[in-house]
Amino acid sequence: MITTACVTGADRGVGLSLVRELLKLGTHVFAGKFLRDLNYLDRLKEQYPETLHLFMLDVGSEESVAAAIAVILEHTDHLDVLINNAAMLGDTQATILDSIDLKEIQEVFNVNTLGPLRVSQALMPLLLKGERKLIANISSEAGSIGSCERNSWFAYCMSKSALNMQSQLIHNGIRDVGGQVLVIHPGWVQTYMNGKLDEQGDLTPEQSASHIMKLLLRSDEFKGEHAVFVDYKGQSLSW
Ligand SMILES: NC(=O)c1ccc[n+]([C@@H]2O[C@H](COP(=O)([O-])OP(=O)(O)OC[C@H]3O[C@@H](n4cnc5c(N)ncnc54)[C@H](OP(=O)(O)O)[C@@H]3O)[C@@H](O)[C@H]2O)c1
Repeated sequence: MITTACVTGADRGVGLSLVRELLKLGTHVFAGKFLRDLNYLDRLKEQYPETLHLFMLDVGSEESVAAAIAVILEHTDHLDVLINNAAMLGDTQATILDSIDLKEIQEVFNVNTLGPLRVSQALMPLLLKGERKLIANISSEAGSIGSCERNSWFAYCMSKSALNMQSQLIHNGIRDVGGQVLVIHPGWVQTYMNGKLDEQGDLTPEQSASHIMKLLLRSDEFKGEHAVFVDYKGQSLSW
């Protein structure tokens, strides 16, 4: 059972489907809205008025994270699971032989790497009071250095590799008090990550989220000295 959970970047895609899965379980869900003009979460709120709590959240901003935490604290003093899902893609074309937009890479890092760190740190007091003390960082196979074959995607790949390192550092910091970080590649999913619907993805967001939920529910199996980096099926990936 997961009694309380927070999901970032929940307006659409995998995040929205994770919120749906959690609500079906009866979990109290704190879902971060980033896009004002998308209303899937608002519609879901009509269906789950008691258990879905919505707030604006830009993980790239300290002020926004602080305001979101204040909303969460109005409803709970503990959290079982934090799912750091929000992310952006950035340029996927430029290789080292092209001009590389360093400003954009900084932006992507601020969201994909520092975003989860901001949110994890801000929510740590609540997580440590939760039953599971679990942080699920939605990373990507693109963050794997061991299996990297791309020659572009600088911003995204580097930001996810750094997220993986962050995950291990946090895991090391909380495992002795029963905490855990799980690093998950959600599969190639049909979402709007690259600006338009990627119809070629292997999985729908619903399928990916359903797999991820199964992993979260058996997170104890992944507990250990080291944080675990797995795909949506629970298979280990190379760091
Ligand atoms: N789709 C795939 O094949 C795939 C593969 C590997 C890993 N992933 C990972 O899976 C996770 C979910 O991605 P997805 O595929 O579901 O794509 P998505 O639909 O684009 O979901 C990401 C969500 O995060 C939001 N977001 C962006 N910047 C944010 C910020 N500063 N603060 C809060 N939210 C922000 C996005 O809003 P906008 O739509 O406005 O950007 C979007 O709602 C991401 O961590 C992604 O890296 C996806």
